[in-house]
Amino acid sequence: MPKLNENYLKMKENYLFAEIAHRVDKYAKEHPGQKIIRLGIGDVTRPLEAAALKALHEGVDAMAASDTFMGYGPEHGYLFLREAIVAYYASNGVSITPEDVFISDGAKSDTGNITDLFADDNVILIPDPVYPVYVDSNVMSGRRILYIDGNADNDFLPLPDKHIHADIIYLCSPNNPTGAAYTKAQLKAWVDYALENEAVILYDSAYEAYITDPDLPRSIFAIEGAKKCAIEFCSLSKTAGFTGTRLGYTIVPTELTFTASSGETMSLNAMWNRRQTTKFNGTSYIIQHGAAAVFTKEGMAQCRENIRYYQENARMIGQMLTKKGIRFFGGKNSPYIWFECPMGMDSWTFFDYLLDHGQIVGTPGAGFGKNGRNYFRLTSFGLHENTREAMERFDKLF
Ligand code: MLT
Repeated sequence: MPKLNENYLKMKENYLFAEIAHRVDKYAKEHPGQKIIRLGIGDVTRPLEAAALKALHEGVDAMAASDTFMGYGPEHGYLFLREAIVAYYASNGVSITPEDVFISDGAKSDTGNITDLFADDNVILIPDPVYPVYVDSNVMSGRRILYIDGNADNDFLPLPDKHIHADIIYLCSPNNPTGAAYTKAQLKAWVDYALENEAVILYDSAYEAYITDPDLPRSIFAIEGAKKCAIEFCSLSKTAGFTGTRLGYTIVPTELTFTASSGETMSLNAMWNRRQTTKFNGTSYIIQHGAAAVFTKEGMAQCRENIRYYQENARMIGQMLTKKGIRFFGGKNSPYIWFECPMGMDSWTFFDYLLDHGQIVGTPGAGFGKNGRNYFRLTSFGLHENTREAMERFDKLF
């Protein structure tokens, strides 16, 4: 009989968004004909941008002739895409090299898989509330997790506590689920802490394209010293509507090294390359070709147009919450709006209430950690007409 990974016994039966989908499907079956408006999972609704679509078609056509056909790709991803990403970072004032960039099928896989590089006896520091993948992937390997509180008092932007030692720190900014975004000074405090503790920061910047405040950092590598202590995960899911198309990229600076117990220097870039070449065969040429078009002037302009569309939804949601006197976070530099559940409800009760009475689906804050138990997340990724209708229903309910 195989010995199973019994850490799975410590986990909730379903992944958060699978649980929500399950509950909503059940409700839909029991209430046929009702129009349910889904503002739960952060999944985009706008079609792909024209530039990316055209390039995806070209990618498909390339497969039709043996002189343009593409088989296995280079291990880090195609150079044309890695160079486009380097240029994108440069346009935000951040310098990285193509050797630092690894193309993948999304930030979710990479934030989950990165745990392969670290021993199981590390101390992990995770903000609460937070994207559940960080917690779940460490629980799966039985690691010790310390939580750092995000709450209304610190605007859901916890800062390092020098009395606590951690080896691995997860940060997400703009944050999923709270929408709060770290300033440069706050991120510098984390980088300083990591350097002092010889820790590594696993930085999720999947929502950087939603930052509207020009002073906020879009990458941890905007902070001096970060290349010696951080790995950054990013994705085209929310930037360019690639949630179904799948394309992510992870920046593992070549400067990022730690000393092994033998005294040898180990490069995380080389380790990640070794891990990916063993367990992953890359993202298809077609998708990478489409992704490169996202980073062109035309592609970026089209992405910005879609992002503005979603920001208008965020504005509508924020306006309704303000009208109701409900304090909220996010929505300005993020597609997520995070607010305290009305009428003193806990978040799963509020989830059921909103579904039962308004046929609106959101995400209960409890799914992101204990500090979310009285909070709720709505996304701005719906269509305008649905978001507007959801807010009209909300207006009547509270
Ligand atoms: C979310 O709703 O939190 C995200 O869409 C989940 C994800 O990106 O995996």
